[in-house]
Amino acid sequence: MVLSMGRWVGKVAIVTGASSGIGAAIAQQLVKEGLKVAALARRRDKLEVLATKLYSEKGKLYPITTDVSKEEDILNAFRWIKENLGPVHILINNAGIFRSGDLSEGDTEDWKSSLNVNVIGLCIATREAIRDMKANKVDGHIIHINSIVGHNILALPGWNIYPASKFAITALAETLRVELKLAKSKIKITSLSPGPVHTEILPDSIMELIERMVEQKEILESEDIADAVIYVLSTPSSCTGTLQDSALKNSNLTSWVKYNYWFSGHDVSRLELSEQILENPRMIHCFCGK
Ligand SMILES: NC(=O)c1ccc[n+]([C@@H]2O[C@H](COP(=O)([O-])OP(=O)(O)OC[C@H]3O[C@@H](n4cnc5c(N)ncnc54)[C@H](OP(=O)(O)O)[C@@H]3O)[C@@H](O)[C@H]2O)c1
Repeated sequence: MVLSMGRWVGKVAIVTGASSGIGAAIAQQLVKEGLKVAALARRRDKLEVLATKLYSEKGKLYPITTDVSKEEDILNAFRWIKENLGPVHILINNAGIFRSGDLSEGDTEDWKSSLNVNVIGLCIATREAIRDMKANKVDGHIIHINSIVGHNILALPGWNIYPASKFAITALAETLRVELKLAKSKIKITSLSPGPVHTEILPDSIMELIERMVEQKEILESEDIADAVIYVLSTPSSCTGTLQDSALKNSNLTSWVKYNYWFSGHDVSRLELSEQILENPRMIHCFCGK
């Protein structure tokens, strides 16, 4: 399989939550690869700093102030992109929040805002991207930044509604995959599930643990996730069968591939089985299909 970002050069990618952490790293990497990146987030100042930093790169970053918990904001962002940048080819649904606490004592507003950002905002952006791709006959790629807690509940306190919001993403990705397949669409959908990543989202209550993990290099950095995104985007549009053959030789799936790989530093070549996801905090679980 030949990995190449060639077909995306000069095309439009939308990254939600691009002002910090994983989203900023993905946006930066896509600009370096030569894409026009519409960077969505609420903190305009941070987006502007990123745009300036990337000024002399091959592509360009366009800051768009957007609160993804507000439908009107998302619709306005897509309108601006359509009028000023062109057809959408890639959507990275990355914006997310984590409100720690116990469900038995939970705050209703925290639950609503978590679901609005992590789930409903993602659904609206996905719907708008698919509409745009269909209207322009673009075989694009949508990537949901999920989490390992979107597949397994960890035996740790304070997770609140966050895992439920990520389990929803697992279901949404699979539902969309089936929908697109039945419609014979060539739009690809990937759900990418990192383990712990060293970013602002992690709650203060586990900072001691995080600092220890950072010291021992047991935590992912945002750049590792950006590498994973570039890897997934670099697979050919018809890659699913090829990957399936090489990654899951004993699979009887025919039209899509479910594969897991983990990163040791920037090594994307090693393929591991999903049961091992929770044994190694540096692991990224990636499901890709169409
Ligand atoms: N860090 C981890 O361990 C980890 C592991 C697995 C998955 N993830 C997922 O990775 C994604 C990125 O998180 P991160 O770790 O990079 O944390 P982060 O640094 O806190 O980034 C979160 C991003 O989401 C944006 N955001 C939050 N609410 C928003 C809203 N209402 N509208 C628009 N943008 C909003 C933030 O921008 P503004 O505040 O400027 O709006 C920020 O850019 C999340 O979906 C998270 O669940 C993280």
